[in-house]
Amino acid sequence: MDKEADDSPPPVADLALPLAGRVALVTGGARGQGRSHAVGLARLGADIAICDLGRNLQTVSYPLANPADLDETTRQIGTIGRRCESALVDVRSLSDVLTFVDRVVGEFGSVDILVANAGVSTLGSICTMGAEEWSVGIDTNLTGVFNAMRAVSPHMRRRRWGRIVGISSMMGRSSNPGIPAYVASKWGIIGLVKSVAQELAPFEVTVNAIAPGNVSTDMIHNDQLYRLMRPDLAAPTADDVAPAMTALHVQSVPWIEPEEVTAAVAFLCSDGARHITGAVLDVSAGASARFTG
Ligand SMILES: NC(=O)c1ccc[n+]([C@@H]2O[C@H](COP(=O)([O-])OP(=O)(O)OC[C@H]3O[C@@H](n4cnc5c(N)ncnc54)[C@H](O)[C@@H]3O)[C@@H](O)[C@H]2O)c1
Repeated sequence: MDKEADDSPPPVADLALPLAGRVALVTGGARGQGRSHAVGLARLGADIAICDLGRNLQTVSYPLANPADLDETTRQIGTIGRRCESALVDVRSLSDVLTFVDRVVGEFGSVDILVANAGVSTLGSICTMGAEEWSVGIDTNLTGVFNAMRAVSPHMRRRRWGRIVGISSMMGRSSNPGIPAYVASKWGIIGLVKSVAQELAPFEVTVNAIAPGNVSTDMIHNDQLYRLMRPDLAAPTADDVAPAMTALHVQSVPWIEPEEVTAAVAFLCSDGARHITGAVLDVSAGASARFTG
């Protein structure tokens, strides 16, 4: 049965399940880091809403998640004993995101946490990249984060509590050749987070970014990226690209696990992080040691 939108503050958290009574929305929740964040927040007591595009895009040359992936995340959350709303939603569409958030608020009464995680990697030279490839990167990674923030912010402001985490990248703090839209979109998320953090600070809503290094998901484990990193090989493997991936970090690891990013998400969603807002938390195996700021 639908619940009325509720203006009262969420209940005080208990220590065993610090997010009990909260509702967390994770975009791009069908697989990879999004699934890890959704399951991780459910383990901390939150009810979960996940959405994903659930189909491939012509301009993205590696497979995206499918509806079965979304169902699998829902199943995993169910085994933890939390409720989960899921939907196929394209974060590039503000009206679709607004409709989903309205549905979640109707079902659960609130949206307290947003992890704006959905993203794509589009590769290409500035000399040849088409408008479509540029747009899919910017529209998904930057406008998609705006759309999700735009949809949840009025609800968080009304309840005077919220946690928004935008997933940027170490490429939002540095750069690499051949991925101009990705780099621009990830720098953009950090600017967006800092502006919205100031606007929502009076309402006990924190807004932060996480900048992961290489994370072991389908976004990096695909032929397109392997070939970019090892153009000298016809069919490079994970072992072939590992040294180049390691070189992007300072610690000697080619990639980190999604759960290591989830730990940072959980921290930013905790009561202990209530005075951290407008910040960027690097989870990048030391790549941040090379950044200037
Ligand atoms: N993997 C990495 O090395 C890495 C590093 C830094 C940051 N990131 C960022 O982390 C986030 C998660 O990526 P991941 O590593 O889990 O990769 P992933 O490809 O496994 O997950 C991304 C998810 O977003 C979904 N998605 C794509 N376009 C969408 C759209 N228009 N609407 C809704 N959902 C959409 C995909 O279907 C997929 O399920 C992304 O924002 C990515 O840019 C990844």
